[in-house]
Amino acid sequence: MSIVIKTPAEIEKMRVAGRLAAEVLDHIGPFVRPGVTTAAIDHECHRYMTEVQHTIPAPLNYAPPGYRPFPKSICTSVNHVVCHGVPGEKKLRAGDVVNIDVTVIAEGYHGDSSRMYYVGEPPILARRLCDITYECMWLGIETVRPGAYLGDIGHAIQTYAEGNGFSVVREFCGHGIGKRFHEEPQVLHYGRPRTGTRLEAGMIFTVEPMINAGRPDIRQLADGWTVVTKDHSLSAQWEHTVLVTDSDHEVLTVSAGTPPPPGLVGRGGRDGAR
Ligand code: MF3
Ligand code: CO
Ligand code: CO
Repeated sequence: MSIVIKTPAEIEKMRVAGRLAAEVLDHIGPFVRPGVTTAAIDHECHRYMTEVQHTIPAPLNYAPPGYRPFPKSICTSVNHVVCHGVPGEKKLRAGDVVNIDVTVIAEGYHGDSSRMYYVGEPPILARRLCDITYECMWLGIETVRPGAYLGDIGHAIQTYAEGNGFSVVREFCGHGIGKRFHEEPQVLHYGRPRTGTRLEAGMIFTVEPMINAGRPDIRQLADGWTVVTKDHSLSAQWEHTVLVTDSDHEVLTVSAGTPPPPGLVGRGGRDGAR
């Protein structure tokens, strides 16, 4: 399979799917409090998707090659969990940081986005890691335009993460997305400028850097899904689904509650979140 160039009609469906994914993230914000279990957060997201939005939670029973079916409707990755955290009965505690990753299917098209949430008041290092990771995602997104290269995205992310003393997880990457959850291309969060695939209008992919406070190494838990840092250092992740437009890019996973781009990213009035 090669990279799918989306038609205008498909792009419109991807805008809808992207907005719906972002709206789940908006909806769940007030539920993220000390004492709440990640299973309860999953349950509320599942209810909102299926009963309010009439969307399908893409993670539920998702089973890529080599994986058992994912048992829940969202991923909840707390503190040193890098990604693919399986919601469960453990309660969130004040000071935790948690990534909530939502992928909806609407009219056959996928929208995929994740944000970091603070449980109470997190420590200064956790806040800094979440902020830097958010800036990493946006610095990657800002390189996206026709004629740019996938390596430009990775290079922008890696340079900023490592320049701030953090590390980039290598084993997981962004991905093309559309009718399928994970399509070509793979969008690495590290790399060299002007290397890799050249971007063309109509491509849609995610940018979803996982950044660790300590070493980049990871380990997968016995549940077959949960990925943690080997050194148990904190990890953060943010994710948007992005379209390559004729002249630059458009972030598709945008809703009323989407956080604005960080101050360090140039303001061109292009992205819906502005
Ligand atoms: N949403 C994740 C991503 O950004 C994938 C999760 S796969 C699952 O690609 F099965 F764990 F949901
Ligand atoms: Co995701
Ligand atoms: Co993704």
